[in-house]
Amino acid sequence: MSRPGLFVSFEGIDGSGKSTQARRLAAALIDAGRKVVLTREPGGSPGAEEIRALLLEGATDRWSPETELLLFTAARRDHVERVIDPALAAGEVVICDRFVDSTRIYQGLGRADLRVLVDRLHALMIGREPDLTVLIDIAPDLGLGRALARSGGEARFESFGEDLQTRMRAGFLALAEEFAPRFAVIDGGRDIETVAADVARTVDAALP
Ligand code: ADP
Ligand code: TYD
Repeated sequence: MSRPGLFVSFEGIDGSGKSTQARRLAAALIDAGRKVVLTREPGGSPGAEEIRALLLEGATDRWSPETELLLFTAARRDHVERVIDPALAAGEVVICDRFVDSTRIYQGLGRADLRVLVDRLHALMIGREPDLTVLIDIAPDLGLGRALARSGGEARFESFGEDLQTRMRAGFLALAEEFAPRFAVIDGGRDIETVAADVARTVDAALP
């Protein structure tokens, strides 16, 4: 399928400022006259939002790692089919708060063989990477502090301690090297405006 639009994902550890920056970018592009779809994962389509509730609520051991990976992938498939692909085909900018790189880190980091499974399932069922991935990089203690200050019922993945956040951060930085052409790493430890200006410059350079 031809893809005249631009597919931008935001990645980073919990509390890094992804959602804040994704929202601001969407608003800036809409102001500039672009058609924008702002979406998120897990979720982003009605079916995938139902799967999101299964994934994020309940006990930490609710699913086996394999079942969890299948649920994330099922949610993504629905989201891509129903929201992302149609918007890209219509020439719109899709801004997605997390995409497959989150699966590579959150599901793939637990066991080495799971990262292999993540990539195989992705190739089989999704088959696309974002055009641009903005990695908001932040010190784990700062991210954790921000994430815990926020309240909400979706706690399954947010009971991570600082050690795990540290491994996740390193994992994301390693992914940025593995997929260097599509990654931009932005320092999220600064004020919201300064980060947003860097994001805007990066995305402007990638716009068709
Ligand atoms: P994420 O989506 O990466 O988990 P959020 O965008 O939801 O992160 O931000 C987490 C919390 O930190 C929110 O309360 C948000 O208002 C705040 N926040 C986001 N970016 C910054 C920043 N650059 N400086 C200070 N606080 C921030
Ligand atoms: P979200 O609410 O977007 O996280 P944040 O706290 O950064 O705003 O996502 C919920 C959780 O889902 C988050 O802790 C990361 C996790 N997740 C995975 O484990 N695998 C995935 O593929 C995705 C997209 C998210």
